[in-house]
Amino acid sequence: MLLDNEKLFSSALGWGIILERLFPRGLMLLDFDEHRLHRRALSVAFKSGPMRSYLTELNAGIANGLAQWPHGREFKFYPAVKRLTLDLAATSFLGTALGPELEAVKQAFVAMVAASVAVIRTPLPGTQMGRGVRGRALIVDYFNRQIPLRRERGGEDLFSQLCRATWDDGSFLSNADIVDHMSFLMMAAHDTLTSSLTSFVYRLAANPDWQKNLREEHRGLALAPREPLPFDRLDDLALTEMAFKEAMRLTPPVPSMPRQAVRDFEFSGFRIPAGAGVNINPLFTHYMPQLWPEPDRYDPTRFTAAASRGRHKFAFIPFGGGAHMCLGLNFAYMQAKCFTWHFLNKFRVSVPRGYRPDWRMWPIPQPRDGLKVSLTSA
Ligand code: HEM
Repeated sequence: MLLDNEKLFSSALGWGIILERLFPRGLMLLDFDEHRLHRRALSVAFKSGPMRSYLTELNAGIANGLAQWPHGREFKFYPAVKRLTLDLAATSFLGTALGPELEAVKQAFVAMVAASVAVIRTPLPGTQMGRGVRGRALIVDYFNRQIPLRRERGGEDLFSQLCRATWDDGSFLSNADIVDHMSFLMMAAHDTLTSSLTSFVYRLAANPDWQKNLREEHRGLALAPREPLPFDRLDDLALTEMAFKEAMRLTPPVPSMPRQAVRDFEFSGFRIPAGAGVNINPLFTHYMPQLWPEPDRYDPTRFTAAASRGRHKFAFIPFGGGAHMCLGLNFAYMQAKCFTWHFLNKFRVSVPRGYRPDWRMWPIPQPRDGLKVSLTSA
């Protein structure tokens, strides 16, 4: 299903049920040849030049955000990292010159994301969907006004990159395309990063030995503790990456990827009719004992080069795979490393012995109690 060599599975029809109303024509809501063209046009925003400048914003935003977090008392991690991720998206995706509209844009965006999973799907007044549809109207208006300015003025943020992105023939993407892709990108990044950083910090809190290992790795960079993490040192954080991967194996931020069959087909002797909904389920795959011995155990060494050798390409799929594989994967690793660098330099994190968060797994995992952790000085 991920490779979909025979073009049997529509991502647009699978995800459309949840996302179509608020995030129409985002990349996951396009299929086949049209999807390929749009993906190619968007990929300029994820090349190393732009990524370098997003990291500058991430370093500044994370350092500022963490400066507000309290030392020495219990702290709800999930809502705090959710706010931080939204602030980071506002600066690295939209640029720092957002001015007085910043709060309205952020709130509109939060309303859209909440509405995308609302039970009542009609935008009645007072409902989440009603607020989400109003939020979309504000975002569409804001982006439309900004596009000509961004083309003229330049800017290194993701939005400005998309305003300057072109099709193969050199022409710009239409305003409608930019608006839809931008809204979708912000949505795709926001809750997934919040969820993955939450499960990661929980694992570090519950496994102090790994917290220590990562701190040692950080010390090995020989940078001053408050220094921004340089782009050229990202690859030196191999242990951090392994520890983050293992957190995502255990708590995949996208636990299920829906598709719809576009033609009848047969699988293992079953006839699947066109129009059937089908799912790829990382939460299942990531716990298969034949791929992951003692699957419940947190063990980042599963991701050393030697341990990964020979493992099935799709045994580990927090970012999906094939045509729709996450376009922001490197952004996600970069933000996770940058966050960990600043966070572990500043704090020691712990949870009471034996504490296990009660995760609400769908549609994106979040701890029901907000993940209560203790932060003390590192
Ligand atoms: C830990 C963080 C993240 C996780 C776990 C994650 C996971 C995923 C998954 C599983 C898919 C594929 C869904 C499918 O095939 O049905 C996907 C697609 C996508 N993601 Fe992410 N994502 C993350 C962060 C980001 C970020 C930071 C961005 C943008 C900056 C982003 C942008 C996208 C886009 C544009 C797609 C659609 C790709 C396509 O359809 O071609 N994601 N992501």
